[in-house]
Amino acid sequence: MIKETAEIIKNAKFLTAFTGAGISVESGIPPFRGAGGLWEKYDPYCIEINFFYSHPKESWREMKKIFFNSMGNAEPNKAHKVLADWENRGLLKGIITQNIDGLHQRAGSKNVKEFHGTISRLLCTSCGREYPTQTTDLTADLPVCAACGAVLKPDFVFYGEGINQKVYSESTELAFKTDVMIIVGTSGEVMPACGLPYTAKQNGAKIIEINTLPSSYSNTISDFWFERKAGEFFGEIETLV
Ligand code: APR
Repeated sequence: MIKETAEIIKNAKFLTAFTGAGISVESGIPPFRGAGGLWEKYDPYCIEINFFYSHPKESWREMKKIFFNSMGNAEPNKAHKVLADWENRGLLKGIITQNIDGLHQRAGSKNVKEFHGTISRLLCTSCGREYPTQTTDLTADLPVCAACGAVLKPDFVFYGEGINQKVYSESTELAFKTDVMIIVGTSGEVMPACGLPYTAKQNGAKIIEINTLPSSYSNTISDFWFERKAGEFFGEIETLV
């Protein structure tokens, strides 16, 4: 099956990837759902937008534990690197990721649509000033804006927040143009992101899925489902493409 998949990838006219937390698990970042998932340990309510504005200190306390402590020193793994190499060779046209960890860019990918935003930037909730997370002191209970003193918010999409319109339309355009989509490490449960592979499928795209467990796509729109770890799969297929 992997040889057949390699041929499909090599002959794709508009190859894209749709990725979720599972692609970063081998980089040491836990997934959200399933065994050991973050939402088993933490309450997702801490990143609900109204809770953040009404209880910023508690929200920041939990966010530091969930995101900032684990994502800080994660490195891209084989899966991120192979996708970046395929883009570099002109084979992969773009990645739509639900992840906020920035590992695709760190692996060298350029055309990355961060559908749920990013942890690498903090925004002032009042004057809108941007701060790179890497160089911002997060030790305070409540990180605040140096210019106006208002609370800073990580630039990722909270529950109850809308998706950035520009990212949404660019991601939808990518999905429309796709003739082969590789879906890596997502349960496919969170709207509107999880609708994008259906958009590709409706336009005739072949769907290749890599997931260690069945997702909402595996027995519906996936033409191929590799029940494999992302890093292992890409380590094998890179020799064939
Ligand atoms: N290789 C491939 N797949 C894996 C691996 C691995 N090493 N480890 C886990 N997986 C799979 C799991 O089987 C699961 O289907 O990755 C998927 C991760 O699913 P989720 O944790 O639900 O992550 P995701 O689909 O990206 O969540 C979507 O939910 O909470 C929100 O905003 C958050 O972007 C996130 C969104």
